[in-house]
Amino acid sequence: MGVASVSAPEIAEILLAEDEIAARVRELGEQISRDYEGKELLLVGILKGAFVFLSDLVRNISIPVSVDFVALSSYGDGTSSSGIVKVTKDLDVSVEGRHVLIIEDIVDTGWTLKMSYLAENLRAGKAASVRVCTLLDKPSRRQVDIELDYVGFVIPNKFVVGYGLDFDGLYRNLPFIGVLKG
Ligand code: IMP
Ligand code: MG
Repeated sequence: MGVASVSAPEIAEILLAEDEIAARVRELGEQISRDYEGKELLLVGILKGAFVFLSDLVRNISIPVSVDFVALSSYGDGTSSSGIVKVTKDLDVSVEGRHVLIIEDIVDTGWTLKMSYLAENLRAGKAASVRVCTLLDKPSRRQVDIELDYVGFVIPNKFVVGYGLDFDGLYRNLPFIGVLKG
């Protein structure tokens, strides 16, 4: 539809088109619905990047589900995290007895995800289970070992924006995932 050329001339390449993302998110939603059938599911989105993915994913989940968010601040340089990550917004609800599924936009070095486990409620350890669902996985850059239970797409070592992912706060609104011009 030429969205890239109209609203984002800075995009060099579309890595994942809107319909590819939608199809995969539908599959993930169906899989999660089957896996958590009969269980009390709580999705925990990591702000801000996961908000678009989570909003589409939740509409593809057919079992009862609650949603909460944590926010983390990272002292990185804009394109990568430094390993210093602080929880700036903790969970509002208790995870006690619930099956928690952490929702991430992308796992790169792995630091953000590792530190998100520090959210007070998760650390209290009363969740029935804690698993991870990420839309994108960039395994080539991993620094900390982390187990990913659901992965949308494995991508190469390129900096991507769109569908919630930003560069310097921008491009989260793009409906596709693209690579910025260098
Ligand atoms: P990690 O802590 O290095 O695993 O990086 C995770 C966070 O860094 C993500 O939640 C994103 O906010 C950001 N990030 C890592 N790679 C990219 C990318 O390619 N595009 C946009 N943001 C990214
Ligand atoms: Mg970010």
